[in-house]
Amino acid sequence: MVRLDKFLAEESSFSRSDVKKMIRAGRICVNGSSDVKPDRKIDPETDCVTADGMVIRQTGRRCLMMNKCAGVLSATQDARDRTVIDLVDVPYADKLFPIGRLDKDTEGLLLLTNDGMLSHNLLSPAKHVSKTYFVIITGGPDEQLQARFREGLDIGDKKPALPALLMFLSVDGDFLEEHVRRGGISGEETPLPSGMVTPDQMKEFCMKSIALADYARCGENECCAAVSVTEGRFHQIKRMFAACGREVRFLKRIAMGTLMLDPELDPGCWRELTSEEWTILEG
Ligand code: URA
Repeated sequence: MVRLDKFLAEESSFSRSDVKKMIRAGRICVNGSSDVKPDRKIDPETDCVTADGMVIRQTGRRCLMMNKCAGVLSATQDARDRTVIDLVDVPYADKLFPIGRLDKDTEGLLLLTNDGMLSHNLLSPAKHVSKTYFVIITGGPDEQLQARFREGLDIGDKKPALPALLMFLSVDGDFLEEHVRRGGISGEETPLPSGMVTPDQMKEFCMKSIALADYARCGENECCAAVSVTEGRFHQIKRMFAACGREVRFLKRIAMGTLMLDPELDPGCWRELTSEEWTILEG
């Protein structure tokens, strides 16, 4: 059981003081009666609450998968720029926030939720959830770069970045097999951090989540790669490549843990997570 004014403030876009005024004005009904007080206890499962005749339902936990487009901010509001929340037109949009940040020019998988615990579980360093990106960088494939990513790069922070998995892709979407082997796991290399995806999983993400249009962005003297990290430092991917003298020309997140971006989502589009995807996130 929950107080009527609290329920309404949480489940609608009205503030608690708006809600009080609306109750006084007879605009709120519980089971058809407007004779209610703000502290009236309701059962959100069984009582029917309306505001100006519109049924207010308990939304519970929500999570949207978005293919973030370039040019919008991963924030809830901004005075100047459009945010990812501005792209969403669900009634509970004002309760959502992005799980982590992608740079304004970065595209790809972004989850929007009202669930603080889900966000914590995906972002906390202690939970070791990998984030996998498709990237187009200046220069060509290079095994030394893979080795440096694998060792853990100094990117100017107090501590070097944790070992990361880097694999090069051909522009038609195939893995460069030689590089898969080297980026992989010969046993003598620095062990990958806990939570890191395997090269086979990375391969699957790349095959299923990268659009041909993404590969088509690769220009002359540039190459395509996939990179997976288990941290979320500021501009981490761009800084890792910059530390190796490379520039990131295009960056798109394709997976968080083993949750893959739905390739059917065009840039800027979103949908609710399926129950299978909830299971992937929560194990
Ligand atoms: N690393 C970056 O450099 N930018 C992002 O948006 C995400 C990871």
